[in-house]
Amino acid sequence: MTIFDVCASFDVGGKYVGCRELSTGNINSTYQVEYLRDGEKKFYIVQRINTHVFHKPIELMDNIVRVTKYVHDKIKDDGFSTKKFVLHVFKTKEGDKPYFVDDEGGYWRCYRYIPNSETFDSCDDLEKIKRVGQAFGRFEKYLDGFDAASLHIPLPDFHNTPKRFDALQVAINADVCGRASKLKPELDRLFALKEEACLLQKHLDNGDIPLRVTHNDTKCNNVAFDKNTGEALAVLDLDTVMPGAVAYDFGDAIRFIANTREEDDPDVDNVGLDLNKYEAFTAGFIGEMKNSLTDLEKETINLGVLTMTVELAVRFMTDYLNGDIYFKTRYPGHNFVRARNQLALAEDVYKKRNEMQNILDKYVKE
Ligand SMILES: Nc1ncnc2c1ncn2[C@@H]1O[C@H](COP(=O)(O)OP(=O)(O)OP(=O)(O)O)[C@@H](O)[C@H]1O
Ligand SMILES: [Mg+2]
Repeated sequence: MTIFDVCASFDVGGKYVGCRELSTGNINSTYQVEYLRDGEKKFYIVQRINTHVFHKPIELMDNIVRVTKYVHDKIKDDGFSTKKFVLHVFKTKEGDKPYFVDDEGGYWRCYRYIPNSETFDSCDDLEKIKRVGQAFGRFEKYLDGFDAASLHIPLPDFHNTPKRFDALQVAINADVCGRASKLKPELDRLFALKEEACLLQKHLDNGDIPLRVTHNDTKCNNVAFDKNTGEALAVLDLDTVMPGAVAYDFGDAIRFIANTREEDDPDVDNVGLDLNKYEAFTAGFIGEMKNSLTDLEKETINLGVLTMTVELAVRFMTDYLNGDIYFKTRYPGHNFVRARNQLALAEDVYKKRNEMQNILDKYVKE
C-alpha cells in the first residue's frame, strides 16, 4: 500500500503529484502530500495513527471530528478563516469515514495542510511564546461549552496525579532494580509536594472546577505559524484531546516552554522557571480565554504548572525504579536525571507561586 493509494481513498480533489515524510512527529508517521487542482498546488497531511499508543483509533477520530467541527463553527461565526485556524478532517470516498484502514490493518487519516504554515520544535522568542499561548487559549475558548464528558478517553487517568503517586509507591515497594534506597532524598522531596500537586484532581472530583476539553500535548510544535506573518494559526495534533482541567494545558505548556534548561539537563542547580517566558505564555493564553474562566479556575490555573511538573517527575522516577520500561532512555540513569530536573523545576515553581499569581492577575484584569 503506497501513500498514493492511501490518498486515493480520501475525498480530496485533483491529481496526486507526490509526497514527503515529515520527520518532526514522534508519535505518528506523517506525510505532506501535494496535489494539483485546476492548475493550483494543494497540500494535505496524511498520517498513520500509532495504534501502539492509541488503542482505539476509531474513538480517537470521533473525538477529533466532533471537536474540530465545534471549533470550525465558532471560528466561522467570528468571521475568521476556518482553513487557517482549525484542522479539517477529510472523509473517505467509500463509507464517508474519517479514517482509512489499509491491508495490514493500519489506520490512516487525512487533514488539509494549514496553508503556508510552519512549526517550531523549540521556542525561545518571547513573542513566539505569546503566540503559542494565544493558539492554545483560543482553542480552549472556542471549546468552552462543548460537553467534555461526552468525549472518549484515549489515555485513561493520564493526569490523575494521586494515581501517579500510587504507581510510584508501588514501584518503591517492589523496588525491582534495588534503586529505591539511593533515591530517598529525592523521593522525600517529591512526596513533600504531593498534597499540593493532588489538589487539582480534588477540585475536579468535587466538581468545583469545570470539566473542559483539553489538548494535553501543548508543545510549541503543535501550533502552526503563518510563514509570512508569524501569526499563530491552528492547533495541531489532537490525538490526546480529552476531558480535563484547563490548568492541565496551561500548566503543561509552561512546564515545557518556561524551563530555563532542557527537560533532561543534569545541571539541576540551574533549572528553574523563567518568569519572562511564563509571562509571555500567560499573556497569550489568558488574553484569549480569560472571559471563559471561573473564579476558582483563575485561582487554581497556576497550580497546573506545579501539578504537571510534579506529575512528570513522579512518572520519570517511577519508570527509573521499574527499570526504564516506559520512556525511551539514551543512557543508564536518564530517567533519574529527568526526574531530578522536573523536581527542581517544581520546587522553583512552588517558590515563585506568588510572583506567578501577580503576573496572572494582571492579565486576568487587563
Ligand atoms: N494539518 C497540518 N498542517 C500543517 N502541518 C502539519 C499538519 N499536521 C501535522 N503537521 C506537521 O507535522 C508535524 C507532526 O504532526 P503531529 O504533531 O500531528 O504528529 P505527532 O507524531 O503526534 O507529533 P509529536 O508526537 O511530535 O507531537 C507537526 O509538528 C507539523 O509540523
Ligand atoms: Mg505533534
